[in-house]
Amino acid sequence: MAILVTGGAGYIGSHTCIELLNAGYEIIILDNFYNSKRESLNRIKELSGKDFKFYECDIRDRKGLDNIFENEKIEAVIHFAGLKAVGESCRKPLEYYDNNIGGTVTLCQAMRDHGVKKIVFSSSATVYGMNNISPLREDMQTGGTTNPYGTTKYMIEIILQDLYKADNEWSIALLRYFNPIGAHKSGRIGEDPNGIPNNLMPYISQVAIGKLPCLNIFGNDYDTPDGTGVRDYIHVVDLALGHVKAVEKVMGCKELNIYNLGTGTGYSVLDIVNAFKKASGVDVPYKIAPRRDGDIATCYSDPSKALKELGWKAERGLEEMCEDTWRWQKNNPDGYPDD
Ligand code: NAD
Ligand code: UD1
Repeated sequence: MAILVTGGAGYIGSHTCIELLNAGYEIIILDNFYNSKRESLNRIKELSGKDFKFYECDIRDRKGLDNIFENEKIEAVIHFAGLKAVGESCRKPLEYYDNNIGGTVTLCQAMRDHGVKKIVFSSSATVYGMNNISPLREDMQTGGTTNPYGTTKYMIEIILQDLYKADNEWSIALLRYFNPIGAHKSGRIGEDPNGIPNNLMPYISQVAIGKLPCLNIFGNDYDTPDGTGVRDYIHVVDLALGHVKAVEKVMGCKELNIYNLGTGTGYSVLDIVNAFKKASGVDVPYKIAPRRDGDIATCYSDPSKALKELGWKAERGLEEMCEDTWRWQKNNPDGYPDD
């Protein structure tokens, strides 16, 4: 029996596939390469020393999904596939609702019709909206999202909760990621954003490597210790290991559970810049720019539920996150080679 990993060629998916293979799981990857390259699959094989099946397929393609479920013995699905750029989602809301929500509904219908009722879903801290006070706990109210991307995550959580209410043969884990950064120790896989990065860490590493001239820090007048935004950065390998625990959980119960995957510690933008400079030995020029729409001052998790119920805890600190990001960036200045 295998785990189907949708979006397994992407940033978090590729790291998770390695940890699943290391833990002895058989995996099948599905991806349409909208935001990833085939080379990441070669590197998953190289780093794990293991082989796996791959289907080039879109999660909105019901026939393509049926073909996979008919031909493979799938026990559970880890569902990463989706679009994730906040700014783009404001310009193309229909594409985001279609891909993320339409795709998830089609995937779940195919799963149900083939008797596969175990799913781990990639949600986000963005579902906590603007009004909760950190540390954020899973039982806090969600909603009030500020962009279509965030709204798709919020709506998918509701859809999966309704699905569980209607049929409690399902086993569902909603994982709310905080801010994943870092890369595999080898420097062979990492985050490979398209165009100019939106998120802080890939932007910093492209400034450090000389591809971008200067970091814009979006606001230094927040109510935080140094005035810049505070977030809960988590090493992507810790996040990947959280999925191994979550998949064990869904395979052993028929419940819907929600878990924060974060470290519980907040760092400011300036903390990250300084840690990155130290880890890389390279300067990161920056200037203070206006606040970015939709940003909040502080967002960090209470990760204690995942520790209690999954036995999972993030182990890697900020220094390691920066060193590993830098190794990936230095060794792959232009990301993965084109297919
Ligand atoms: P990513 O873009 O690197 O990976 C997503 C993968 O899904 C890509 O390989 C892409 O080609 C694939 N994909 C997209 N639409 C598809 C479709 N219709 N059919 C098949 N494949 C499709 O993103 P990531 O950072 O690895 O994020 C993975 C998941 O985690 C996403 O759902 C994202 O929203 C969520 N998430 C990410 C973050 C983050 O900061 N990276 C934070 C919270 C939640
Ligand atoms: C953003 C998204 C969130 C998404 C997450 C992961 C917004 C409002 N939120 O979270 O929905 O789940 O990415 O994809 O976009 N910063 C700078 N300069 C930059 C980039 C960022 O100062 O060039 C600051 C931001 O203001 C913030 C911090 O760095 O304080 C982290 O930003 P980012 O990496 O974009 O993550 P989030 O805003 O937490």
